[in-house]
Amino acid sequence: MSVVASRYRTQFLRSYARSKIATDPAYRAVFEALAGTTAPLLDLGCGIGLLAFYLRQHGFTAPITGVDHDGRKIDVARLAADGDRDLHFVQADAREPMNFRGNVVLLDILHYFTDDEQGRILERAARSVPPGGLLIIRDGLHDATVRYRITHALEAFARAVRWLKAERLNFPTKERIEGPLRGAFDEEVRSMSGFMPFNNYLFVFKRSSAGITNA
Ligand SMILES: C[S@@+](CC[C@H](N)C(=O)[O-])C[C@H]1O[C@@H](n2cnc3c(N)ncnc32)[C@H](O)[C@@H]1O
Repeated sequence: MSVVASRYRTQFLRSYARSKIATDPAYRAVFEALAGTTAPLLDLGCGIGLLAFYLRQHGFTAPITGVDHDGRKIDVARLAADGDRDLHFVQADAREPMNFRGNVVLLDILHYFTDDEQGRILERAARSVPPGGLLIIRDGLHDATVRYRITHALEAFARAVRWLKAERLNFPTKERIEGPLRGAFDEEVRSMSGFMPFNNYLFVFKRSSAGITNA
């Protein structure tokens, strides 16, 4: 069994963790982007903590704070953290201001917010990242492709069966992600759907010293 999966208490969660990590390339890609960094990491919309546990399994030792508004998932993540004192899981809304300085990851969460909220979350996240630091985003992009329609349909199903607690689905366009960050970050973007028929992209923004300040 994978080391991440073995942290969870139920067979359902262990199976979910095993298959999600096996099929979703985002965890590996985030680990590679963070390689060599020691700054604290904020994982906004952390769910049951899969990214944090994956990073730990692969030797990432920086403190990690996972934030999710779903108290059930935070409880699961806390139990699975198993005494690691540099892993913190907090129940909070990603739209609330947070006092944090370091690298920030948003995996598959932006699409639960309105356009304005997405902009504010990105601006706040950007202000948390110091020069040379990273803001890493993976999300489905709203465009004219069939992949987008499949992504939307599967998320709508997950929400309907209440695996996902989310107010709405509003996938961002590429421009809506890049707009608030333009000028302050260098950017790399690539398709990130693995074997699944999703329209997912990974954005790795590296903060340059110019641009948005920590005002
Ligand atoms: C698709 S899951 C992704 C989980 C995790 N990032 C991962 O990739 O393994 C989206 C997560 O966003 C969380 N979420 C949705 N709306 C939120 C909000 N307003 N504040 C914080 N978390 C939220 C959901 O509870 C869910 O755990």
